[in-house]
Amino acid sequence: MPTVDNPTEKTLSAIGINDPIAVAELFARERLRYDQQLAAKVPDEANYTLMKNAWLGRKSGVLTLITENWLKPAPPALKPIVGQSLNELKRHIESSLESLRVAGEKSFEGVAAAREKIDLSLPGVIRSIGTHHLIRQVFQEIEDIFFSIGFSVVEGPEIETPYYNFEALNIPEHHPVRDDMDTFYMELPKGAPGPLLLRTHTSPVQIHTMEKRQPPVRVIVPGKVYRRDNPDATHSFMFHQIEGLAVDADITFCDFTGTIDYFVKQFFGEGVKTRFRPSYFPFTEPSVEFDASCVFCGGSGTAKTGGTCGKCKGSGWIELFGAGMVDPAVYGFVNYDPKKVSGFAFGIGIDRLAMLKYGIDDIQVFFQNDVRFLKQFP
Ligand code: DAH
Repeated sequence: MPTVDNPTEKTLSAIGINDPIAVAELFARERLRYDQQLAAKVPDEANYTLMKNAWLGRKSGVLTLITENWLKPAPPALKPIVGQSLNELKRHIESSLESLRVAGEKSFEGVAAAREKIDLSLPGVIRSIGTHHLIRQVFQEIEDIFFSIGFSVVEGPEIETPYYNFEALNIPEHHPVRDDMDTFYMELPKGAPGPLLLRTHTSPVQIHTMEKRQPPVRVIVPGKVYRRDNPDATHSFMFHQIEGLAVDADITFCDFTGTIDYFVKQFFGEGVKTRFRPSYFPFTEPSVEFDASCVFCGGSGTAKTGGTCGKCKGSGWIELFGAGMVDPAVYGFVNYDPKKVSGFAFGIGIDRLAMLKYGIDDIQVFFQNDVRFLKQFP
């Protein structure tokens, strides 16, 4: 049988077909060609239209060509077989194209359904809820203890004038304690009133408070303070303090030590003992340094594993913070009558206390924001 590029574009006689068997073979080949094309197509609407136009298209579809070129000009002897074969091919094409259309619709629905399906059993997006930073938690613990004995919280500015940071606290300009507080001063625009500095302690809020309120005063002042310290395991250029101030008509040294002892026991545990040693601060007189019995060795000075306790260096005591009775000179700066009032003050380093209570040996971890550390204090 002769092969022709596209036999449907020629008449049967032109391609040398002149007997029924050859006609049947010719149709069989067209059907195979159709089947192969169909098999290569994904069932969807676009392919259905493509195939339909190519084979059933009225103007130049394959079946139209066959009708025009094979059937109409066929010799009378071949006409019946050509007509019959054409009908068979047409039925085959129509029914299989219908299957293609239905399959296409189904898969379209399937894709859409899959896309729209909501799986309620899938775990949602779980965002971890943060917690308070350990420093904030310790602030809260300390605040709660002082709330329970009638103190309230006040806050003050982190940028101060030297008057509040030093002078009004009885630290005149050339006083040597200023060396310890070697300070961050602000760069100010020309002509601006100054100087201004980052407060080196929370004590200036004592002055702000007494300027605004008359005794009785019982406040604590949580906040950040800044010093030009080189960072190491126990120093940071920024750290946290809670200042305390109680002033009233008849506050005694006994009230003072009793209050501190109560606080320390509440914070570290009933078993902890306190003691105080003489110290010096320009704004308190007398001034003391409070110690607690070592929380690591229970005050014995001997480590649990035997040998000298490394935390208290065998002394059994750990230094906590400075405090004292408010120096009468300070009252002079806030127009309180030193003959009528008395009181005490203290300045607690929060970072240090948190480190002691929670066994942290490097202050820097508070500021590195490493979640592996933060997560340990949920
Ligand atoms: N302001 C002091 C400092 O930062 C701490 C301090 C000591 C505060 C004794 C006080 C106090 O109120 O009475 O070093």
